[in-house]
Amino acid sequence: MSTTNPEANNAADLKQALLEALIRPDHRISPVWFYDHRGSALFEDITQLPSYYPTRTETSILDDNLEAIAKAIGNNRLVVELGSGSSRKTVPLLKALDQPAGYVPVDISADYLHQAADDLSQQLPGLPVIPLVADFTTPFALPQTLPAHSNRLGFFPGSTIGNLTAPEAQSLLKHCHRVLGDDAAFLIGVDLDKSPEVLIPAYDDPEGVTAEFNRNLLVRINRELGLDIDVQAFAHEARYLTDPARIEMHLVATTDQTINIAGQTHTLAAGESFHTETSHKYTIEGFAQLAQQAGWQLTQHWCDAQNRFAVLLLKAAKNQ
Ligand code: AVJ
Repeated sequence: MSTTNPEANNAADLKQALLEALIRPDHRISPVWFYDHRGSALFEDITQLPSYYPTRTETSILDDNLEAIAKAIGNNRLVVELGSGSSRKTVPLLKALDQPAGYVPVDISADYLHQAADDLSQQLPGLPVIPLVADFTTPFALPQTLPAHSNRLGFFPGSTIGNLTAPEAQSLLKHCHRVLGDDAAFLIGVDLDKSPEVLIPAYDDPEGVTAEFNRNLLVRINRELGLDIDVQAFAHEARYLTDPARIEMHLVATTDQTINIAGQTHTLAAGESFHTETSHKYTIEGFAQLAQQAGWQLTQHWCDAQNRFAVLLLKAAKNQ
């Protein structure tokens, strides 16, 4: 998992993010800060939880429809994956595609990226792999030297786009249109809106792993900024909200909390919370509309039997 930015490793920027969160009335802090070493391991654990359906559902949608998806994508594509992480979902796709021209995994974590690129080259001998260390949430350029290809395919699984607001998602999609070109296609995983009875346990599991993932943000802050925030005084909460449909994760102060940082004292009164993540939930039509305004047309989509998750194939609209 790699919803990160170049600043997300740096203590000075974490301090800045915390100070801003304390000052803002909504106490919002970006979910990029979840993914330290422990946070990344906890996210892996989340993807294995019975109540966290997105990862497993997306994987089976891809598995079950691989042939149809590969056929719809067409031949000789250069595949560009955003936030490739371990590239786990990409190997079967690359194997199913007709003469893929090459694979460009884009990730902010250089370590992860080069390891994954090596592993992938072993599994797909002969396929050119050109890793790109970049933050895909800000405009990035493709490497100068690329293998010959007819056209490009963007691949963005995991519903990572759900962390972005609609305007942020649109600017990402617009930028991808520019980078991938007028003949491009884009395969994207999107989590669908559904009953809070399913959504809430996905973000507040009975095992308590997501609670630990959420609280780990405070553990990280304490360690990296030398603070002594009382982690156990914060309760994990997942809230389902509408307009737009989304899950919000919060860390709610159970008693009044004082946080001393940079010579200032900030307080979070009991009941106030850090807002640590928003995960937007879409309808197919809603996402298609958002994509259309960003230069992409929905051509086909695949869902699981319960319509929990969707894999959408977009094609670049002309004359943008
Ligand atoms: C990685 C952003 C897709 O929103 O479902 C999982 C992150 N947070 N459980 C999501 C997450 C809490 C996940 N994304």
